[in-house]
Amino acid sequence: MSKPIALITGASSGLGLAMALRFRSEGFVVVGVCRHRPGFELDRWIEADITLPEDRDVIVKAITEEFDGIDVLINNAGKGSYATWEEMPEHDLRDIFELNFFAPVLLTGKLLPFLEKKRGTIINISSVAGGLHVPCMGAYCATKAAYKLYSDSLRPEILRRHVKVMTVMPGRIDTGFSSRALGARKPPETPGGGNADRFAAKVFAAYRKGRRCLIYPFWYRLVMMLPGILPGLYDRKNIQLWRL
Ligand SMILES: NC(=O)c1ccc[n+]([C@@H]2O[C@H](COP(=O)([O-])OP(=O)(O)OC[C@H]3O[C@@H](n4cnc5c(N)ncnc54)[C@H](OP(=O)(O)O)[C@@H]3O)[C@@H](O)[C@H]2O)c1
Repeated sequence: MSKPIALITGASSGLGLAMALRFRSEGFVVVGVCRHRPGFELDRWIEADITLPEDRDVIVKAITEEFDGIDVLINNAGKGSYATWEEMPEHDLRDIFELNFFAPVLLTGKLLPFLEKKRGTIINISSVAGGLHVPCMGAYCATKAAYKLYSDSLRPEILRRHVKVMTVMPGRIDTGFSSRALGARKPPETPGGGNADRFAAKVFAAYRKGRRCLIYPFWYRLVMMLPGILPGLYDRKNIQLWRL
């Protein structure tokens, strides 16, 4: 029997790389997508900027020519922003929505027939920020909230086509992600956070169980309840943390 195929966007660093290694160690052929091919080998790299329509076509062409379908698509490539709404230039706002929302939605649409062939699974990487408003990260939160709602509403739409959808909401995991974010502000130093390899193991286990949603680390579930229970305190704490 041929090995299952996983296509992972943003597989060259951070969470994407950790998931690529995990799925590979579990017997998958991993196809990684990123703009700049890194120095290490994967089963197949596709150099593509997923925000460009012509590059999305390059991905579809490679899959059509080289594989008979996709078992797992992980929409992971994304970036953060650390700026107030007032500080955010229009270009950056459009840029972050392009990468975190429009690109994975449009790419998924093009790859759906390949997932259908294999009765595959789409794993959408949102963020706990998609369920939690954070000042100075408003634009990022908005992209990830939109992406979570896209992911959850896509699930019932394609269930009859035997394609599953899992929404993943990671909390802070140190990958160097902050240093690549848009905006000039620095996020406050807060304790805690997750580990990329443990995250990847949790994603794989949740995928195997056919879960609809994963929040990692689990205690972010409680943090996400705070604005609903203590909205004033939550906002005051954030004003203090972000020195607003
Ligand atoms: N780390 C965290 O704390 C955290 C928390 C919650 C959610 N997340 C989410 O998890 C995902 C991965 O985060 P990370 O921390 O692993 O980020 P990362 O280390 O900055 O990695 C981002 C990856 O995306 C690729 N990428 C960026 N722009 C791209 C484009 N236009 N087209 C194709 N690939 C592109 C990058 O490669 P190239 O630069 O070569 O293209 C890289 O492989 C993101 O969606 C992020 O929002 C992260």
